[in-house]
Amino acid sequence: MVKDTVTIRNNKTGKEVDLPLEYGTVGTPAVDIGSLNKEIGTFTFDQGFMSTASCKSAITYIDGDKGVLLYRGYPIEQLAKNSSFLEVVYLLMNGELPRENELFSFASEIKQHSMIHEALRVFFNGFHYDAHPMSMMVGVMGSLSAFYHSELDMNDPEHRRISAMRMVAKVPTIAAASHRHSVGWPFIYPRLDLDYCENFMNMMFSLPGQQYIDENNYIDPVAVKALNLLFILHADHEQNASTSTVRLASSTGANPYACVAAGISALWGPAHGGANEAVLSMLAEIGTVDRIPEFIAKAKDKNDPFRLMGFGHRVYKNFDPRATITRETCYEVLEKFPSDDPLFDLMLALEEFALKDEYFIEKKLYPNVDFYSGIIYKALKIPEDMFTVMFVIARTAGWVSHWLEMMSEPSQRIGRPRQIYTGYDVRDYKPVLDR
Ligand code: CMC
Repeated sequence: MVKDTVTIRNNKTGKEVDLPLEYGTVGTPAVDIGSLNKEIGTFTFDQGFMSTASCKSAITYIDGDKGVLLYRGYPIEQLAKNSSFLEVVYLLMNGELPRENELFSFASEIKQHSMIHEALRVFFNGFHYDAHPMSMMVGVMGSLSAFYHSELDMNDPEHRRISAMRMVAKVPTIAAASHRHSVGWPFIYPRLDLDYCENFMNMMFSLPGQQYIDENNYIDPVAVKALNLLFILHADHEQNASTSTVRLASSTGANPYACVAAGISALWGPAHGGANEAVLSMLAEIGTVDRIPEFIAKAKDKNDPFRLMGFGHRVYKNFDPRATITRETCYEVLEKFPSDDPLFDLMLALEEFALKDEYFIEKKLYPNVDFYSGIIYKALKIPEDMFTVMFVIARTAGWVSHWLEMMSEPSQRIGRPRQIYTGYDVRDYKPVLDR
């Protein structure tokens, strides 16, 4: 059978090459340009990866025009409605939804790994008292490799699996510890009788004299449901900036804890995971509804770097399906935990204003998942500097799944992009007194 190809011609040299098209199960095909430089002496240039597929992956599929997001083929709406976060983690890591016994043993194993080493707990004391929790997340996640030397043979599938399990299990413990260090509270150990989200809430909010969960083990189901949902929605998003960072770091053979720490660093930026915190700061800065037009004008002004945080997405150009779900959850959560917070009304007014604005309509800028997630976290009493950390907890599932997928492929090569050099051509060194 003749393979579909795309012909590229260098008009300067007249050299031409037929490049094969690669098709996935669904979605846009990609031209395999691997031989381009060898054949016609040309690189491709695609700043920001606007048209470049960086890998093959069977984990997550997005159709940005139709607002479709699938994890292993399952629509995000169905998973959000019916599943638990750990069920989704199992799905992402293993490719299939777990049977009842599989889910039980998976959840039990995660619980067994949820503690952090006492020496690592003490490690937190080295951080400044007002360190941002994200800075602690980067450092502590990276340092895990120092505790598990003996299980870092990345050619051993069991070593890889256990490393991934450890990161998913420990990330809520590390997250809660980062918060508690920043407010000067004693750490709370994980409890084996609680599920993933309950445990996190307990580690975040229990005080020595005041337990978050009462003696009947009651914890508000609306809060747990909302947390579970936000974790599911943020669990994976194919080759986003942080996942691509994890993959690039992994391509060098670096250990998985270091690679995920690199992913946490990439997530921190306000264009990515830092957006949920930035939305709340922006709302506070806007302050009142009558100032919205002023800020919309700033967002449209090309000479002003200000952007409307929580709006726009590289891939979704009609709507973000995760935003539709978080918007609904926002109402449910605020009904249960009524808030006299004026920021909620301000958020709705801003949304309405921007959606009617010609600039936002023309550029297809819609609210993304993080426009609403911050307000939900705020209603759950999660502090603002923890919003991006919440994203880290959820996205660790995606990072480790991509890492496992990548490590299981025998044809791995180091990721090494090329460049268009714009500096000086060769020139001679001059002694310092002659310059
Ligand atoms: N406010 C005002 N203008 C915007 C915005 C915005 N939030 N987003 C994009 N634009 C404009 C941008 O100025 C550009 O205009 P022009 O064509 O005249 O130069 C056009 O829309 C296209 O923007 P872009 O920067 O080329 O688009 P991108 O795909 O590179 O960036 C984005 C996507 C998400 C980084 C960007 O929309 C943005 O900065 N949004 C605000 C930050 C945010 O909410 N991030 C969370 C993303 S969802 C969570 C996650 O997955 O991490």
